[in-house]
Amino acid sequence: MESHLEKQNGDVLQKSFKEMISTLPKKSCWGLPEDQYQYQSFWFSPPFLQGALSAQQQFQAQPTDIILCSFPRTGTAWLKSLTFATITRTSYNDSTTPLLSKMPHDVVPYMEFDHAQISINRHLGIPLLATHLPYSFLPRSIIDSGYKLIYICRDPKDTFVSLYHFIARHCNSRNTQPIQLDEAFELFYEGISSYGPYWDHVLGYWKASLERPDKLMFLKYEDLVEDTVLYLKKTAEFMGYPFSSEEQQQGVPENIVKMCNFDNLSGLEVNKTGRHREGKGNMETENNIFFRKGKVGDWKNYLTTEMAQRLDQRTLQQLSSSGLSL
Ligand code: A3P
Repeated sequence: MESHLEKQNGDVLQKSFKEMISTLPKKSCWGLPEDQYQYQSFWFSPPFLQGALSAQQQFQAQPTDIILCSFPRTGTAWLKSLTFATITRTSYNDSTTPLLSKMPHDVVPYMEFDHAQISINRHLGIPLLATHLPYSFLPRSIIDSGYKLIYICRDPKDTFVSLYHFIARHCNSRNTQPIQLDEAFELFYEGISSYGPYWDHVLGYWKASLERPDKLMFLKYEDLVEDTVLYLKKTAEFMGYPFSSEEQQQGVPENIVKMCNFDNLSGLEVNKTGRHREGKGNMETENNIFFRKGKVGDWKNYLTTEMAQRLDQRTLQQLSSSGLSL
């Protein structure tokens, strides 16, 4: 439990963060109710920037922590469910796993929101945490101690289309008007979206993965779709929870992949009708908005050829000489 003194100190810190944020460059965009703020060249919604600053000051990683890192809409919930099911496979089976009654974001919480100030409340039995923070924003306790990080990224065109629909549904559920897709496209192209610019986010983790491949595993959504079992096995190995040959013979990895596949998870009652962060104002959402199509290449249904070419060109420029292609 948090002591009275800790709470007071926490309140003072939050106040100073709020004051600092109010001095930053800001932009009203994406039809969102709150402005986006630019800090150290990345854009943030205020609660997440506040959480990021808080986490930088207060978050204490545990030695066994595995942090799932991603830009929004690149496959975070899927990665959460796969890693959670892998790590807890000896405690639960297909009919008892918490994934049946909780949505993936509720089984693996966000560092900069759910645990920014309350790391003492962590469920230490499960070493997974997630973050959308850029690599350069991670708390020093994570970087210095070399905890394991897994990063997932995705084709920028599908990421944009997914993000656009997510925000549009978010606006609809609040009876605010979503912006047009072409307007949102220009913002994304210019790097103005929560946690953007997208390419800088990806590059931060990519470079770190080249320096410390033993500590940072770099995944692509498209690879995961193409051969989920293979990448699940690699991820399990990386996390230190490899599947034994007996488990492989019994088809344990295949069962986890089946349980976490898009159709299965999106069809669960909790993910169809449940709510995420209930009672947390603007942060509250319906669980079902986290599941849309789960396909590679859906951008073809929304972007013109010219838009796709512009975004591809931007990606080529941004990633040039990094050795990474998306
Ligand atoms: P689409 O909007 O293209 O369908 P995040 O979890 O980072 O917000 O990413 C959301 C994207 O992952 C959405 O993409 C969502 O539908 C997709 N997704 C969610 N669960 C998935 C699963 N189990 N398998 C594959 N994709 C999934």
